Amino acid sequence: MKTPSDSRNRMSEVVLPNDTNPYGTLFGGRLLSLMDKCAAISAMRHTEMVCVTVAIDSVDFNSPIHLGELVTIESWVNRAFKTSLEVEVIVNAENILTQQKRQCNHAFFTFVAINDQRQPTSIIPLNPENELENQRFEKAAMRRELRLYMKGRISLEDTVHLKDDLIAEISRKDLQ
Ligand SMILES: CC(C)(COP(=O)(O)OP(=O)(O)OC[C@H]1O[C@@H](n2cnc3c(N)ncnc32)[C@H](O)[C@@H]1OP(=O)(O)O)[C@@H](O)C(=O)NCCC(=O)NCCS
Repeated sequence: MKTPSDSRNRMSEVVLPNDTNPYGTLFGGRLLSLMDKCAAISAMRHTEMVCVTVAIDSVDFNSPIHLGELVTIESWVNRAFKTSLEVEVIVNAENILTQQKRQCNHAFFTFVAINDQRQPTSIIPLNPENELENQRFEKAAMRRELRLYMKGRISLEDTVHLKDDLIAEISRKDLQ
């Protein structure tokens, strides 16, 4: 078994002119690419296998990141399932001159470990070590079910981790 700390990854980049949109702020696609790379390293550290991105949950761009600022991306594994795993990613921006920091983005990535034949392969479990990691571990199971339900891969009857009130809410939306 491995712990979330074993997969923790941290990457920093300075925003250069090539990374920006016409407004001089970091281009969203460039940031997604960095987040995906950081998260993939966490996934591969945990599994010790090649991992491919299968899903990215909604990503909010809360605060623009400006030319010359430092972007720091951090990721870790929240939970390992059979062949897939959830990686949480946070993005912070820092103005190096003023030392001011802010959190800009947050997202959950799902990866699948694959073998030489590019088939999904079983992975080792994750062992959360503290209360926060336990909460992340529990919520990851709920998010997985929600993801798979939204993709039509499972039905509501197959869910065991989703809370009743959320199921009721989803069911109401289904009826509209
Ligand atoms: C990843 C891939 C091999 C999975 O193939 P598949 O036929 O869906 O495989 P399975 O049905 O066995 O699912 C494998 C795992 O992925 C999970 N999964 C599949 N689609 C998912 C989705 N949309 N969201 C979350 N999990 C998903 C399944 O739940 C399963 O997890 P588990 O074993 O832990 O329960 C295949 O979808 C693929 O090659 N995708 C392209 C990956 C890629 O190129 N990524 C880079 C994008 S540019």
